[in-house]
Amino acid sequence: MKIFLAGATGALGSKLVPQLVARGHEVVGMTRSASKQDLVRSLGARPVVADALDPDAVAQAVASAEPEVIVHQLTALSGPMSVRDARHPDRSAAARMTNRLRTEATDHLLAAGRAVGARRVVAQSFGAFRFARTGGPVLTEADPLDPNPPGALRAVQEGYHYLERAVTAIEWGEGLALRYGGFYGPGTSLSLAPDAVMAAAVRKRRLPIVGNGAGVWSHLHIEDAAAATVVAIERGEPGVYNIVDDEPVPMREWLPMVASALDAKPPRRIPRWLGRLAAGEMATVMMTEVRGASNAKAKRELGWQPRYASWRQGLAQGLG
Ligand SMILES: NC(=O)c1ccc[n+]([C@@H]2O[C@H](COP(=O)([O-])OP(=O)(O)OC[C@H]3O[C@@H](n4cnc5c(N)ncnc54)[C@H](OP(=O)(O)O)[C@@H]3O)[C@@H](O)[C@H]2O)c1
Repeated sequence: MKIFLAGATGALGSKLVPQLVARGHEVVGMTRSASKQDLVRSLGARPVVADALDPDAVAQAVASAEPEVIVHQLTALSGPMSVRDARHPDRSAAARMTNRLRTEATDHLLAAGRAVGARRVVAQSFGAFRFARTGGPVLTEADPLDPNPPGALRAVQEGYHYLERAVTAIEWGEGLALRYGGFYGPGTSLSLAPDAVMAAAVRKRRLPIVGNGAGVWSHLHIEDAAAATVVAIERGEPGVYNIVDDEPVPMREWLPMVASALDAKPPRRIPRWLGRLAAGEMATVMMTEVRGASNAKAKRELGWQPRYASWRQGLAQGLG
């Protein structure tokens, strides 16, 4: 198939292009920077330079590719994150830009896809921290989302909702939104690379277990994220899919294992009141109350299986 990939140079996009090419697909990869065209070529795609926030540039780029499938993997999340950003993602430049990419850029890509007669759209959403904080520890796509998220998460959540609604509602084609788990592995914020932001926070013991550490997170190796995306490009009914590994896990169990995989000291433990004071309400909720995601639908309907079925195996063998 002919595939237009917005975000070809990103943590996920750069893993996705070679997997698509290996499956015999023809990929046009979009980047903002003329200087990254060689990178896109080296991955196996034809580069096209356009700013995702410029509707005319996007329309032109998509028209030049005449794709059957449009893939949206645009975020602005890979840079460094300050404590202030972590406390108030709604106020951080990266999150604001990411919200624009999830709303405005989604609209531009959909308009461009419709104009050229594309028949399928696959877009990056995110699964963790979004479910209602009621019911069991692991929830499905049919379960309700948090009607009352912490204030600092509200705008971020609205960005996801917008993207999912827009993509899955298209009438001129099939739209799939993939709610990935927290990425780890080469090129992500949790890897062995010296600039990996989350790994650095764990090494410096800046990511403590707050309160009972019962917040359940779902994780996903970046190669598995790419492999699931290939499957969603090739088959599956329109809709939302959780793309996560088989083992949602409470923070109190996962974080010490991450520290050990990084040869770091174990995380500190701090009481909930101190977590709220030091890191804010959002981080405290994420550490103590959030629910994990089930991948049963993706397995059943897409026939996808994560290679790193458990983060345990991924941390041991897949950090890069
Ligand atoms: N995805 C999440 O929800 C999430 C949450 C927390 C942390 N993280 C971390 O953040 C990273 C995210 O990985 P990712 O693959 O989602 O994103 P990424 O590595 O930041 O890649 C973003 C992609 O979007 C493109 N892009 C951004 N703005 C653009 C614009 N205006 N016009 C055209 N292209 C634009 C970039 O292209 P150019 O730069 O080539 O223009 C790049 O290809 C990982 O390290 C992950 O661990 C992710």
